[in-house]
Amino acid sequence: MTASRRPRWLNSFALLILAPGALALVVLLGVSLALHGYILRGAAERGAAEVAVSRIYSTVRQIASLPPDERTGAARRNSTPDMEVEWSARTAVPDGSDLDDDLRAIVSGPPEWRAVRVRLDASGTSGNVQDVAISVQLADSTWVNARLRAVSLLSADDMAFRIAIILTAVTLLALAAFASRLVAKPMALLATRARNLPADGVLKLDGLASPTEVREVAEALEAATSRTRELLQQRSLALGALSHDLLSPLARMRLRAEDIADGHARGRMLQDVREMAEMVTDVLAYLRGGDGGEAATRISLVSLVQVVVDECAEEGALLEERDYQDSTVLAQPTALKRAIRNVLGNAIKYGRSPWVEVLRRGDEAVVAVGDSGPGVAPVDLERVFEPFFRADEARAAGEGSGLGLPTAKAIAEAHGGRLEMQSVQGIGTVVKLTLPSARAA
Ligand SMILES: Nc1ncnc2c1ncn2[C@@H]1O[C@H](COP(=O)(O)OP(=O)(O)OP(=O)(O)O)[C@@H](O)[C@H]1O
Ligand SMILES: [Mg+2]
Repeated sequence: MTASRRPRWLNSFALLILAPGALALVVLLGVSLALHGYILRGAAERGAAEVAVSRIYSTVRQIASLPPDERTGAARRNSTPDMEVEWSARTAVPDGSDLDDDLRAIVSGPPEWRAVRVRLDASGTSGNVQDVAISVQLADSTWVNARLRAVSLLSADDMAFRIAIILTAVTLLALAAFASRLVAKPMALLATRARNLPADGVLKLDGLASPTEVREVAEALEAATSRTRELLQQRSLALGALSHDLLSPLARMRLRAEDIADGHARGRMLQDVREMAEMVTDVLAYLRGGDGGEAATRISLVSLVQVVVDECAEEGALLEERDYQDSTVLAQPTALKRAIRNVLGNAIKYGRSPWVEVLRRGDEAVVAVGDSGPGVAPVDLERVFEPFFRADEARAAGEGSGLGLPTAKAIAEAHGGRLEMQSVQGIGTVVKLTLPSARAA
């Protein structure tokens, strides 16, 4: 799997923050628990020993101070359900208990005691001390053995600590998720806005004021788009001025061509001049972005289509007129006529058996134009609305500037509608110009 095929969320900002954060937390949690266990076990041992010492030592002292024949009885009397005490010739705690120096200092008794041995029996997993056995060797080499059961100092504290760490981890993860969302949300908003830039090309910045980084990216993007906008405007102005200025010399050329004596040459010259004038008009129409500057009026779409069909017939191109459903739209007549003409012109120019129909579809009116013809290759289908794009066959056919469809699309959109093309190569093409129907007057 290549990097580009990775699911989008794998590279998302939230995950990039959360994944290392969560990993770090889990490691921290493990280390903390281990450290806590280690430190607490030591403390517990010491605590257990202290408890044992305080409970046992007075008893041991008392027994040690008695004459030997009273010691066994005293040991029995001092035994309680959780503490066994006995006076014996042998120790109950084997030598070699591994107490650290601190603990040794606590349990070392008065100097006349010859030895003090302590054994702590820790239970397997929790580390809680279950039993404390202490054995003291008196001056006469006899032993007082005491065993204190079930000293459990740790369990509650240990559990509290674990719960605290888990709660901290969950809180931190929630905070990290919240923080990353704080950034990820405006980022996503910015991406959506940039993708769906409105027709005026101005990137809206509201809702993108924080965090600072997002605001800076948004401002930089807006600065970049406004520079591009200005450049495009300058270019359009220059192209518009040039196209406009070309119309006058073209008109003069047409007049002069009329004077050419040779009929054949005159015809060809006039044809060239007409084509050039059409191209210039196309460019001007395109640059106006579908807005011809006329007032919008209520128009019968069927009548407008019929006018264009008639004009085509006059020029020798016949179209099959299919279903005509009455539909009224609010539109700039000249601009809309140009859009319909451009689409019909293509069906005539590139296809065979061109046809047209006007349909009402809910709140919309549709002019559908079709032909059986070469169609448009799927790769080109996405590009036919780009200015100056012409597919190979069209280029070979000559004539045309590649501005017909982009202009028609701009006009449709300026009227709140849309232009779509469906085409199957070798079968034919259908282009639909959809406009919102005008509400009844
Ligand atoms: N009905 C159609 N059948 C096949 N190809 C088409 C059809 N309509 C458009 N095309 C393709 O789409 C391209 C763009 O069309 P568009 O109308 O924008 O430009 P044009 O017809 O080449 O030139 P212009 O309309 O400016 O004279 C055409 O060059 C052609 O390749
Ligand atoms: Mg065209």
